[in-house]
Amino acid sequence: MSCATCHDPAYAYGPPNALAVQMGGSALDKPGLRAVPSLRYKLVTPAYSDALFDPDGAEPPGPGGGFNWDGRSNTLAEQAAQPLLSDFEMGNRSAQEVVDKVRQASYAPMFLEAFGGQAFADADKAFVFITQSLEAFQKEDPDFRPYSSKFDAYVMRGEGVLSVPEQRGKAVFYDPRRGNCAACHIPDLNQFTDQMYASIGVPRNPAIPANGSEKFYDLGLCGPLRKGFTGAVPDSSDELCGMFKTPTLRNVATRSVFFHNGVITSLEQAIRFYNTRDTHPEIWYPTKGGVPRSTPSASFPSYGLVATQYDGGKVQKFNDLPERYRENIDPQMPLDGRAPASAPAMSEQDIADLICFLNTLTDGFVKPAGKDASSGKCVS
Ligand code: HEC
Ligand code: HEC
Repeated sequence: MSCATCHDPAYAYGPPNALAVQMGGSALDKPGLRAVPSLRYKLVTPAYSDALFDPDGAEPPGPGGGFNWDGRSNTLAEQAAQPLLSDFEMGNRSAQEVVDKVRQASYAPMFLEAFGGQAFADADKAFVFITQSLEAFQKEDPDFRPYSSKFDAYVMRGEGVLSVPEQRGKAVFYDPRRGNCAACHIPDLNQFTDQMYASIGVPRNPAIPANGSEKFYDLGLCGPLRKGFTGAVPDSSDELCGMFKTPTLRNVATRSVFFHNGVITSLEQAIRFYNTRDTHPEIWYPTKGGVPRSTPSASFPSYGLVATQYDGGKVQKFNDLPERYRENIDPQMPLDGRAPASAPAMSEQDIADLICFLNTLTDGFVKPAGKDASSGKCVS
């Protein structure tokens, strides 16, 4: 297993398959806890802070920065140490084991050239050199920040114009009354993330084996992978529970699983989750009690996670967040807590257009010789 097994360059250094979590460990039989993020456009990530300046200018400073879904690493070198030694990722038992492998690798001479003839002499120091070289690679190889999408070519460099549906989708993305995506996936600095944390109530994913235990909750900033927030004041971390880092939306259309737990399996479904989490919670969260209908009514939406329609029963809204943390849920549009069965923020046309716009964020765009760059629904 290499870093690229999970972070495949052909998928913007994201996962090459549709698994919510990847299998790792020495026998490749240990499931992870979270979906694999893309490694592109991570260069400008600041170190984690409880009070990072929020670039939207509207909100007070809050938790932001750091690597991983929970920001628990401050540098790429610090981050790289984790997968190398994790028993559900690369499965090495010790720094020494990693150092021994590198010492025997074809690139060992280059390693000695970069870090000196004694580079392997001390295992702890050599391990740090290894993580530093992984950081250098991710920072210096331009393939981690190609800025080669249609958006970069047409919007940033003015080499063309987006199609009409793509332009409409861009408007939805910015419109505070419709998508409002730009409030968090802020295009400033060109990264499509504000580097901040939010709790948006993503449904629990039963496909993650750890979730088989009712007691297990992945609470992002407040653990369990991230430690250290239970400091001087007991429970001082409560208001951070359930928060995950806003990911970049660059190359998001190359993914097959979405959000920290990979429960959502298409870009369209992700947008529909934002749009109908509050208006149709019954299609995103399981229902307890109630009588299942043998066939759902024609008006029951088929794009959610729940295919069965119930008469009666109680929808387990926010089922991946213990009750006491539910006030941490972010109230920003389109997740503004509107009433069940009321009108959602985006129309069908808005959703189709937004998908077209998000597809312009995929790297590797080649300007066509003919007149239009888009195909299918995204052409005018
Ligand atoms: C078994 C799959 C797997 C392997 C192998 C793996 N990673 Fe990851 N990587 C992940 C997952 C899952 C996360 C998210 C972890 C989290 O949030 O706790 C992640 C997160 C990251 C991040 C943070 C990205 C961000 O958005 O902040 C970086 C950087 C990274 N990995 C680099 C590496 C490097 C370098 C290696 C090789 C030394 C590696 N990974 C090996 C699965 C993997
Ligand atoms: C309140 C801030 C906020 C707003 C507004 C927002 N997002 Fe997000 N977005 C997040 C956070 C935080 C996550 C990660 C949540 C998680 O995994 O638990 C996320 C994750 C995503 C993902 C998953 C990406 C991946 O790599 O898995 C997609 C797709 C996405 N958002 C699209 C959108 C779109 C489209 C809009 C506008 C309709 C939008 N977001 C509005 C904060 C926001």
